[in-house]
Amino acid sequence: MNANELREAYLSYFEELGHRRLPSASLLPENDPTVLFTTAGMHPLVPFLLGEAHPLGRRLTDVQKCLRTNDIEEVGDASHLTFFEMLGNWSLGDYFKEESLAWSYTFLVKVLGVPPGRLGVTVFAGDETAARDDASAGVWRRLGIPEERIFFLPRADNWWGPAGHSGPCGPDSEIFVDTGAPDHPGCRPGCACGRWLEVWNNVFMAYEKTASGDYLRLAHPNVDTGMGVERMLTALAVLEGGGAGGDVFQVDTLRPLVERLERLSGRAYARATRPFRVAVDHLRAAAMAIGDGAAPSNLEAGYVVRRLIRRAVDAGRELGLQEPFCSRLGEQVVEVFAPVYPGVAGARERIITLLDEEEQRYRRILTEDAPRVKKVIRTLRDSGASLISGEQAFDLYETYGLPLSLTAALAEEEGLRVDEEGFERCYAAHQALSRQSAEKKFKGGLADHSEASTRMHTASHLLQAALRQVLGPAVHQMGSNITPERLRFDFSWPERLSEAQLQEVEERVNAAIQADLPVTMAIMPLEQAVASGALAFFGEKYGEQVKVYSIGQFSREVCGGPHVDHTSVLGRFKIIKQEAVGKGVRRIRAMLEDGGD
Ligand code: ALA
Repeated sequence: MNANELREAYLSYFEELGHRRLPSASLLPENDPTVLFTTAGMHPLVPFLLGEAHPLGRRLTDVQKCLRTNDIEEVGDASHLTFFEMLGNWSLGDYFKEESLAWSYTFLVKVLGVPPGRLGVTVFAGDETAARDDASAGVWRRLGIPEERIFFLPRADNWWGPAGHSGPCGPDSEIFVDTGAPDHPGCRPGCACGRWLEVWNNVFMAYEKTASGDYLRLAHPNVDTGMGVERMLTALAVLEGGGAGGDVFQVDTLRPLVERLERLSGRAYARATRPFRVAVDHLRAAAMAIGDGAAPSNLEAGYVVRRLIRRAVDAGRELGLQEPFCSRLGEQVVEVFAPVYPGVAGARERIITLLDEEEQRYRRILTEDAPRVKKVIRTLRDSGASLISGEQAFDLYETYGLPLSLTAALAEEEGLRVDEEGFERCYAAHQALSRQSAEKKFKGGLADHSEASTRMHTASHLLQAALRQVLGPAVHQMGSNITPERLRFDFSWPERLSEAQLQEVEERVNAAIQADLPVTMAIMPLEQAVASGALAFFGEKYGEQVKVYSIGQFSREVCGGPHVDHTSVLGRFKIIKQEAVGKGVRRIRAMLEDGGD
């Protein structure tokens, strides 16, 4: 089975069960200041999991582009990826455990042909927050899973969420495929021996964790499931006996990239799996993020994209690739995903250009800065040192961006050794710091529905409308990011706005605020919304039925909400600054003063 067959089989199976199909949302979360990337199918749905009505109803299904960097150091083995596709189905206060688990079972066994004897499941063992999940275990027994393949595991294994500090969460039940690797005492799903492949997670979101750490029961418990496309296909290949040892890079959304890299490097994948996997995984992730509007930079999502590309270049150099190659793999990524995700084909040039520019930039660092590092190493040697300490090596890494292996090679040429363990310690300490700041970022919860954010959200609609009035209809939203304190709005525009233009935009927004325009919402089919002149941002998660928010006659946009009821509560709108973010995209930062009723 290939990826396309799996996506179609899954989505149409759940459509037949009354679910509506949603398009994938952008990898860059919309209106969500708390995360850099979309990391699960549920992220774009958080407002609806928290009770906002979804225009398509209470049963949804989709395939979502996801990017997770927490395991980036593990990439290079047979199973870890940064970018992956997640199939999911949701019940927004509709069905619960009985239906969800039975449908998962039937899909795996009847549609995909997984032998029931190769399935194993885990359920929540219970703790002080929530009771042992005997209901799920009961469903699995009735479906025929034998007792010895039902594992009760603690919170660390069988509780999912909240994705941020607060929000929907609950016990989950995970489904594993037994690869048939030898059993050993204590082996269970999740065991490091790799015998069990996790393919699907059913989360029973019956709780909301509050900011103070309490767990409240949700009035309407939800189901949130996630199946990794690459994992599932790998498990199927293993079951068919052709799984090449469970290597996820054999899946048809990765294999063409591996082959392209074999042709470009003249090297065989089987003889250098690690650098092949790093280059392929990282460039697939970088290309898809760029396709959704990210650009390499030193900040936030842009920094992650930069690191992905640079690590891929390092891996390429390990394979002997002296010439730029990243854009060639980018081209291949477009070929793989253009038929699957809207927007990828249109972003082809941008993906190729940005990958190439970043690779050239990094290669220049390597050729121009490596000699500088060499000079530093010589000075150390001349002062009598024979060892470069971990701190010194980390300092060089931070200053010049040279990978440790390169610094070590340069040092060796001068007869010095590098304390690599010391470097790793410094590196880990630095990582812990960035993780802390990433976690801080996560803390406000996922979707922020404070009044201040809601006002800011309405202001961003006014801003887009005003920009189009002043600059013309070529202005399109490329992204937006809102916190209670400020809004950030990215849009397509090739040049700097003049002071006069900025002032004009600001004045028009303020005029709309002072006119106290009513904000109204209507639900209609997407085509009708677009036909009525509503702006639709392609990165958003729209279904066939959408919400259209109108602000008087001033603005009309397809949007999930929420918004204020009338504009005068916004107070005074003030543009703080404009910036360029990549080719043809400008960013405006703005705030509201004296808002509130
Ligand atoms: N949100 C759940 C996960 O990511 C389904 O595993």
